[in-house]
Amino acid sequence: MLEKINETTAFLRSEGFIDPELGIILGTGLGGLTAGIEKRIEIEYRRIPNFPLSTVEGHEGKLIYGELGGKKIVAMKGRFHYYEGYGPDQVALPVRVLKYLGIKHLFLSNAAGGVNPDFQIGDIMIITDHINLLPNPLIGKNDDRIGVRFPDMGEAYDKYLIKKAMLIAAEHHLRVHKGVYLATSGPTFETPAEYKYFRIIGADAVGMSTTPEVIIARHMNIPCFAISVITDLGIEGKIEYVTHQSVQHEAEKTESKMTAVMTDLIKSL
Ligand code: HPA
Repeated sequence: MLEKINETTAFLRSEGFIDPELGIILGTGLGGLTAGIEKRIEIEYRRIPNFPLSTVEGHEGKLIYGELGGKKIVAMKGRFHYYEGYGPDQVALPVRVLKYLGIKHLFLSNAAGGVNPDFQIGDIMIITDHINLLPNPLIGKNDDRIGVRFPDMGEAYDKYLIKKAMLIAAEHHLRVHKGVYLATSGPTFETPAEYKYFRIIGADAVGMSTTPEVIIARHMNIPCFAISVITDLGIEGKIEYVTHQSVQHEAEKTESKMTAVMTDLIKSL
């Protein structure tokens, strides 16, 4: 694994991806943040050695380097989900490459179904903690050069960044919540009974991503910050027919709120 990470990192450096301070992984319908990246270099995943290919509509599959909020950043537009059939190593590699390029923070976004009865479609939720019901991406032989065998998960999401983001959201007068994100494999959306169960076990929102990347990042001690955009509701009496297109549509409508918080947070670092 380390050999592949070094090979991919060297390739990206040779393409001009020099010393990014921050990594960003963008979710379904949330790629618009990348429009604000200046002095950009873009490389399609299929040109990057050892990178898996993104197969989902709405996930473009490009790595973008440049400046955002005055910082050098590298953004993954398109991510890798277990439901596409990728294994843990394939999900892990891009995040490890970001670390080896030099990132000091990782920011993530996703589209999620709200199960907290106070939530509405179009709200944003700053993730404070997660419940990972996906296979743990660290299962398998551990490489101690990358991280410890048994990583602590007591502060998976950086408390300082959460606090700062809540203040920024308030300045923008946004409807924002803090909450627990639960990751499930998908690709099915939930049955009403599953949404109810996820609420009972402590979730505020449910989605199919983010926790694997956060686990991989925390294994390497990278502070993480993540936002869910609430695109549908898994709340009794409010459940409507959900499609990938409806999720994308709602995510696109809310994207500017998430972008405002993320951009101001990056500026403040
Ligand atoms: N469930 C799972 N994943 C999702 C949902 C949902 O309701 N909405 C967006 N991604």
